Amino acid sequence: MDRILIRGGNRLSGRIAISGAKNSALTLMPCALLTDEPLTLRNLPRLADVDSFGHLLNQFGVSTTIEGGRPSDFGRVMTMRGQQLTSTVAPYDIVRKMRASILVLGPLVGRAGEATVSLPGGCAIGNRPIDLHLKALEAIGAEIELAAGYVKAVAPKINGVGRLTGGRFSFPVVSVGATENVLMAAVTAKGGTILENAAREPEIVDLCNLLVAMGASISGIGTETLEIEGRDRLHGAMYRVMPDRIEAGSYACAAAITGGSLDLVGASAHDMRATLDALIEAGVSVEERKDAIRVSADGPLKPLTLSTAPFPGFATDMQAQFMAMLLKADGASVLTETIFENRYMHVPELARMGAHIDVRGRTAVVHGNASLVGAPVMATDLRASMSLILAGLAAEGRTEVNRVYHLDRGYERLEEKLQGVGADIERLGDG
Ligand code: UD1
Repeated sequence: MDRILIRGGNRLSGRIAISGAKNSALTLMPCALLTDEPLTLRNLPRLADVDSFGHLLNQFGVSTTIEGGRPSDFGRVMTMRGQQLTSTVAPYDIVRKMRASILVLGPLVGRAGEATVSLPGGCAIGNRPIDLHLKALEAIGAEIELAAGYVKAVAPKINGVGRLTGGRFSFPVVSVGATENVLMAAVTAKGGTILENAAREPEIVDLCNLLVAMGASISGIGTETLEIEGRDRLHGAMYRVMPDRIEAGSYACAAAITGGSLDLVGASAHDMRATLDALIEAGVSVEERKDAIRVSADGPLKPLTLSTAPFPGFATDMQAQFMAMLLKADGASVLTETIFENRYMHVPELARMGAHIDVRGRTAVVHGNASLVGAPVMATDLRASMSLILAGLAAEGRTEVNRVYHLDRGYERLEEKLQGVGADIERLGDG
């Protein structure tokens, strides 16, 4: 299994191109199930999860064609076409590798009138149930059955054809995935749908914009109340995936923790305001330029008190990276994780590098002025792995990050991008 080796201590400086957003890609791709016409997505990141999603779509008879120019290019163009769906079953073997597979449930039942998807199972950052996905689909007419590890959703028959009715659902808890799933189902329902307390993450806005480009009728985009008028059919579209706000935020932390300066090329400040505000509060300079956000740190960082929250709050997907960064702050910071239980798996690994972090339930006290020393480490999820990379960049000596497949799920060519701005980082093969 590959490992990443970092010799820490270099101050990073230069330009980093921000890739298309992973979490957006994973909700835009299933929209190919909603039409018999081609859907072309540009700026798709080259990531393991995107490849897996392509294979999942193939399972239903959707063809996928990739143009991506040279292997040295960042991003790819993928055209997906589900002229005729040949299956409505998402098997365990694929779903277990990628939780986001559950996002085919809504569009499949919307288009084909039925869908059977393996239950995603446990996950390293908490139990992550899918009850809200199912309740929301039920509210717009789906009948849900659970059996033998699979969930089956069936739409009622209207003139012999399975078609969802539409309806009203108020989310008791904000859920990004459940909002996405029901949105993709509601756009082809017979009637209208109102979703209350819907997620407002930029990736949801990206999804709504694509659906509208495919002919859907959605109002309230970017707010917590979405109103959808179902359409008889949607058509194909050509659409560019939004920039990855979490990748951009992670590299911003890399600039801050190394006392460096990075231009995050193509990042959208509007989508990452809470991250940028937190950086500014920590004493980091943030300059919004025409094509990039410049993040520079000079002098000690200030400690922070931060709590994760749904958008527009501080993203849970940035918690681990800020924790690493705040190890270099001049004092103790307090982080509270409100979205997922069990999302502090990086703490014991950071401790191996000399960090002093006290965790009590959902709150972590991060003691600053840490003298970080390189060590062999491993993480159990994507953003936790990134926090170890960040700590490694600031540590003295050699850090070896194991289980690189987590990083490959979410960071396009991480080591190449960091090498380009002065990091001493390389990927090692087996051995
Ligand atoms: C998505 C993102 C993930 C991010 C998270 C929160 C993708 C592929 N993943 O995950 O990177 O960390 O949003 O911003 O886009 N919940 C329920 N029942 C449900 C669904 C969710 O109780 O049916 C709970 C979860 O356990 C969690 C909270 O709701 O406590 C939010 O989860 P959710 O927003 O659904 O996260 P994901 O869509 O899985």
